[in-house]
Amino acid sequence: MLGVRKAVFPVAGIDTNFLPATKASPKEMLPVIDKPLIQYAVEEAIAAGITELIFVTGRGKRVIEDHFDKSYEVEHVLKARGKQSLVELVQGIKPPEVECVYVRQAEPLGLGHAVLCAEKLIGDEPFAVVLADDLLDGQPPVLAQMVHIFSHYDSSVLAVEEFESYDALSHGVIDGRRWDERVISVSRIIEKPSPELAPSSFGVAGRYVLMPSIFHYLRELKPDANGEIQLTPAIHCMRKEEQVLAYEFVGKRYDCGTKLGYVQATVDFALRHAELRDTFDAWLRERVAGAQLGIWACGALLDQPEQATRGLAH
Ligand code: G1P
Repeated sequence: MLGVRKAVFPVAGIDTNFLPATKASPKEMLPVIDKPLIQYAVEEAIAAGITELIFVTGRGKRVIEDHFDKSYEVEHVLKARGKQSLVELVQGIKPPEVECVYVRQAEPLGLGHAVLCAEKLIGDEPFAVVLADDLLDGQPPVLAQMVHIFSHYDSSVLAVEEFESYDALSHGVIDGRRWDERVISVSRIIEKPSPELAPSSFGVAGRYVLMPSIFHYLRELKPDANGEIQLTPAIHCMRKEEQVLAYEFVGKRYDCGTKLGYVQATVDFALRHAELRDTFDAWLRERVAGAQLGIWACGALLDQPEQATRGLAH
């Protein structure tokens, strides 16, 4: 059995949630503290043993290529200023044994279409799909956990997590039978059902390890009502012929495609960032204490306005 050596990063999509920030810059380059989302995704893939990174890119996304390319100018300036550790930091963004390949998706025709654009580059071997706006924080990294499950069962694997019922609308949702402690054998998968039609509360997070047979199902698919080819219905057709597993990953998902998820990731990552954690932690505690005092004062004012104002005056 071939191992998983290649990963597809669909990055051609146009973002509307972060406008105006993403008018001219790719959403995948939004930083969480000091690292762009796409770099977190790439680091996760490399930690899972991936050596070929296939970016399905589009117009306005050239800066992603530049990010993983050598920058003579930046390195020159840093060397001239004696900042050797920063030289190593920028040189280490793409390790030498890892190769980056770029293919264009001319029109935003859906996630399934993006994956199809990589078909020739993948060939006949299993591969990963990594959606950079899902920032997954796990130890071991989530894709490494999935590659382990893939090798064990020799089946396609989808990362899933339990969600709140109203979240069905933003996920592929699975149905299936428990197979192992964190593994579910998928019987059905539906793309973004309305909450009352969701077959379970397990939604797909943006990580997939897929058998190359998925290309056959993607090619057969008719575009949906929006004219797009989605990955979820192709996986649904695939599982009729072969086993597909859902894996409840160990870790936390930040949906950095939304403002709330992005801010949550920023706060959590700041709280353990070597340079920031102490000062940020102190600031955050002060802020929370201030907010609690405010809440207490408001409550007291409503209950006993006179005493509360006297108390606050001291
Ligand atoms: C895509 C998939 C969806 C999956 C989600 C995870 O949707 O189509 O099935 O649950 O990623 O983030 P998107 O977020 O691109 O709309």
